[in-house]
Amino acid sequence: MGCMAFSHGYGQIPEEQYSIEAIQNAYAHGCTFFDTAEVYSPNLSGIGHNELIVGKALQGIRENVVLATKLMLHGFTVGSVYKTIRNHLEGSLDRLQTDYMDVYYLHRMSGVPVEKVAEAMGKLIDDGLIRGWGLSQVDVDVIDRAQKVTPLAAIQNIYSMVERDSESEIIPYCMEHNIGFVPFSPIASGLLSGKITPQTQFEKHDDVRNWVPQLSRKNIEGNQPIVEMLRSFAEKKNATPAQISLAWMLHKYPNVVPIPGSKNKERIIENLDASNVVLTEQEFTALENELNQHKVYGHRGLGGF
Ligand SMILES: NC(=O)c1ccc[n+]([C@@H]2O[C@H](COP(=O)([O-])OP(=O)(O)OC[C@H]3O[C@@H](n4cnc5c(N)ncnc54)[C@H](OP(=O)(O)O)[C@@H]3O)[C@@H](O)[C@H]2O)c1
Repeated sequence: MGCMAFSHGYGQIPEEQYSIEAIQNAYAHGCTFFDTAEVYSPNLSGIGHNELIVGKALQGIRENVVLATKLMLHGFTVGSVYKTIRNHLEGSLDRLQTDYMDVYYLHRMSGVPVEKVAEAMGKLIDDGLIRGWGLSQVDVDVIDRAQKVTPLAAIQNIYSMVERDSESEIIPYCMEHNIGFVPFSPIASGLLSGKITPQTQFEKHDDVRNWVPQLSRKNIEGNQPIVEMLRSFAEKKNATPAQISLAWMLHKYPNVVPIPGSKNKERIIENLDASNVVLTEQEFTALENELNQHKVYGHRGLGGF
């Protein structure tokens, strides 16, 4: 599960205790993969709000889960890239109350060449501080350059039924090289749940949905046929539209592990239960064929973290 919304991105954040319980409930329900980042803090100002929550929630169960966090390098790093990244990592480990990271991502490319980042990540693997490393929101050329220096564990890019750019090159590359592909915003920021209508008012404060182009009124309206299609499949499968959209990608690729995000305890469980919604080959093909016939209106855009 993605933990970002407990700190940033989708309006009012819950009380800390609620967020901690939501994470612990998810674990009790079988979730073993948690995603955070050093920059997830209210309004993206400050560092570590989300990591502190995740760290508290996972106390005592940390070794049973796969934990992923991300660092941001700003511009051209002065001095050793390794030392800079290690400093970021030590801060994250501290806040997450752990002494190793399972997957450590570079959150966005900056002025630092990816080969230098890959080399530093390789050293951190040798140090025993991280088990694997990853890149986020990158193209296949960057992935390939990085992979040649230190093999990658995971790529985290945007991917959903309405954001399928990664299908042409990136996911096939990842499959060929044994790299996990971790879709962020897999429910298209809520669009594919069917709970968003052209009339939906997003929150005023720290809510990325106000500037996500795919969630303009016009595009929400344009994408309704896809939502309707999901509704109709969901009815047949006794599931929800959000679950069908996740079951679709789980069926489609063996190396795809989506991280839906929600700050709502019930929806977190709903999303986790998508793994129980198993599509037959015939159902998947019907869904895929229908999806291919629909025009997608708007992209999520590359802003936001
Ligand atoms: N690498 C990156 O650059 C990057 C960028 C963005 C996000 N991420 C990571 O990816 C995770 C997921 O991204 P995301 O939060 O944008 O994904 P998302 O699940 O596609 O969108 C979250 C939005 O959808 C709503 N939602 C989720 N499940 C729902 C359901 N079953 N029914 C109705 N509404 C539902 C949530 O509302 P409620 O909260 O009200 O349920 C929230 O508004 C984040 O937590 C973060 O860890 C990474």
